[in-house]
Amino acid sequence: MTNDQTRKVAIVTGGARGIGRACALTLARAHYDIALVDLLVPEMERTAGEIREIGQEALIFEANVADFRRAQEVADAVVSKFKRIDFLLNDAGRPMPKGILEISEQEFDDTIAINLKSCFNYIRAVAPTMLEQGGGRIVSMSSLNAHSGGVTAAVSRFAYASAKAGILGMTRALAKELGPTIHVNAICPGLIQTETPKNPVIIERGAQIAQAGVALRRIGQTDDVAQLVLFLATSEPCYITGQDFKVDGFQYNM
Ligand SMILES: NC(=O)c1ccc[n+]([C@@H]2O[C@H](COP(=O)([O-])OP(=O)(O)OC[C@H]3O[C@@H](n4cnc5c(N)ncnc54)[C@H](O)[C@@H]3O)[C@@H](O)[C@H]2O)c1
Repeated sequence: MTNDQTRKVAIVTGGARGIGRACALTLARAHYDIALVDLLVPEMERTAGEIREIGQEALIFEANVADFRRAQEVADAVVSKFKRIDFLLNDAGRPMPKGILEISEQEFDDTIAINLKSCFNYIRAVAPTMLEQGGGRIVSMSSLNAHSGGVTAAVSRFAYASAKAGILGMTRALAKELGPTIHVNAICPGLIQTETPKNPVIIERGAQIAQAGVALRRIGQTDDVAQLVLFLATSEPCYITGQDFKVDGFQYNM
């Protein structure tokens, strides 16, 4: 257990499962107490249990990341409990498989709200605390799709790519606005294997993609992303902000 002088605190949205869960556990092993934010309560409880087994504290918040006011409530509760917020990981996101001719206005708005506005909501909620305490780090999960536009058969098409590309602009602009106190970066994972049931792209195309179009000849694992998150959260000194980093084994056909 860390004492109050060495205590580090992270908020991880989407931390119930998948990439967010792996990042939360990796941060906990690096002595961060973790506030998990997600819609999936049983999965969050499981991750929180694993964090406590590591020896760190874990809070869970059932919240839709698209909800601006709820983000402020979460940040207030975390500051009330831990007195600080050192790191924010905006991981929660959701794919959108529909193309421009099939998608409804509501579905487009929801995709932007869950994948992009969510990042605004949580950065807006934590930035005052990070500025006041004199430091903080923020990482938002974009996607290789932001660069490539995705492949035709992918589960996520233009609406998701639009939101994920928006994260890159937000990251650059907020790095300028919040620097030098807060470092703001983004990560663009390629295809990553998660425990999410029946990921159709992995099932149908994972092996094929790995053989035909990945320099490292394998699909990514959640820990591949978590290692970079840990570096961006903890590295000292750190001369890195306003950047996005692909974690994709060089998936050159995506
Ligand atoms: N897995 C990949 O191949 C891949 C590739 C590129 C980018 N990404 C991005 O990485 C992030 C994590 O993806 P993953 O593969 O681990 O997915 P996942 O579905 O396994 O995990 C996403 C988590 O976010 C939560 N979430 C979704 N919508 C939410 C909402 N409105 N409010 C609160 N929580 C919500 C889910 O409940 C889930 O726990 C996402 O932003 C995703 O777009 C994933």
